[in-house]
Amino acid sequence: MAPLTRSRAAAGHTATDLMAEYYAQRASAGLIIAEASQISPQGQGYQDTPGIYSEAQIAGWRLVTDAVHKQGGDIFLQLWHVGRVSHHALQQDGGQPVAPSAIQADAMTFVDGEFVPASAPRALGLHEIPGIVDDYRQATVNALAAGFDGVEIHAANGYLIDQFLRDGSNHRTDMYGGSIENRSRFLLQVMEAVIGVAGADRVGIRLSPVSPANGVSDTDNWSLFSYLVDQLEQLHPIYLHVIEGATMSSRDYDPAFDFKRLRERYSGTYIANNGYTRELALQLTESDPKALVAFGRKFISNPDLVQRLAEDAPLQSLDKQTLYGGGAKGYTDYPTLADLLHPDD
Ligand SMILES: Cc1cc2nc3c(=O)[nH]c(=O)nc-3n(C[C@H](O)[C@H](O)[C@H](O)COP(=O)(O)O)c2cc1C
Repeated sequence: MAPLTRSRAAAGHTATDLMAEYYAQRASAGLIIAEASQISPQGQGYQDTPGIYSEAQIAGWRLVTDAVHKQGGDIFLQLWHVGRVSHHALQQDGGQPVAPSAIQADAMTFVDGEFVPASAPRALGLHEIPGIVDDYRQATVNALAAGFDGVEIHAANGYLIDQFLRDGSNHRTDMYGGSIENRSRFLLQVMEAVIGVAGADRVGIRLSPVSPANGVSDTDNWSLFSYLVDQLEQLHPIYLHVIEGATMSSRDYDPAFDFKRLRERYSGTYIANNGYTRELALQLTESDPKALVAFGRKFISNPDLVQRLAEDAPLQSLDKQTLYGGGAKGYTDYPTLADLLHPDD
């Protein structure tokens, strides 16, 4: 199950019993990657997303991990810093969000139940960056204390790490900007810090090499991401999770970028995502014994997606009105095949 922000955390950005029920309903996924969770108050970009930086948040997530483990599932937490994809109303001091450079994102954030444009960011000072790397390290310690089986570093979809990677959003002239090596430095430092406390077999990474999500762009995605994957091969996280194409949109975005060649540079497990159907997933997993497929939207509306795919049963469609915020409606009330067959149980 792909990471899916649902904006249903309680006060203090804590996970709830309802979230535990939602994830436990989907435990047959095998591996759940829980929704992106901010590593610090500064890292938040949308209303009511959960965090992983306080004792109360660790306790809240414990409800979720216990519920999923009880159903026989594994669960990783996706670690998130949104960078410039935030709003001053979400920042602790009402200040500007931070970014590699002071360039406003062409992106929306979610505040008071509405989507609003991201605020103008300020550029991070060189002296601030080690503290953010340390926030990722501490968030990993916290996630393991909350019972997660591992963490996924969110380096995709135009958030802070992706902003550092791309030359459209990173105009720095210090050791974190300019060359591909410099723009990759922040991500690789985060990976080293996180692997240092969790071990490489409890750390995954998510990339979206050609996605324009949240307004990022680069003049040479292939050189950037082939370099990065070669570096990741050395660090060897448990998996490389790749959004193929434009997130939630065309799989053919930038047809010049060859995902098969990218995958071949990594000798470990590959998790493919984005617009996968049953047929595409079967094709991939039959041809690549170390490939998994992550499903996002289909898992929202089909808690028993694995059973439905196994039986080639019809899938339920998604209610787009209930994706972000709210309660059980459109969250824990999607029926399973068994519910439909035995509605009175
Ligand atoms: C409601 C919603 C929330 C999402 N939240 C996240 C998130 O927290 N982290 C992330 O990396 N991707 C997030 N995504 C992207 C999905 O993980 C996935 O990449 C995307 O939906 C494409 O996969 P699919 O075609 O199987 O749905 C989100 C997508 C949706 C629809």
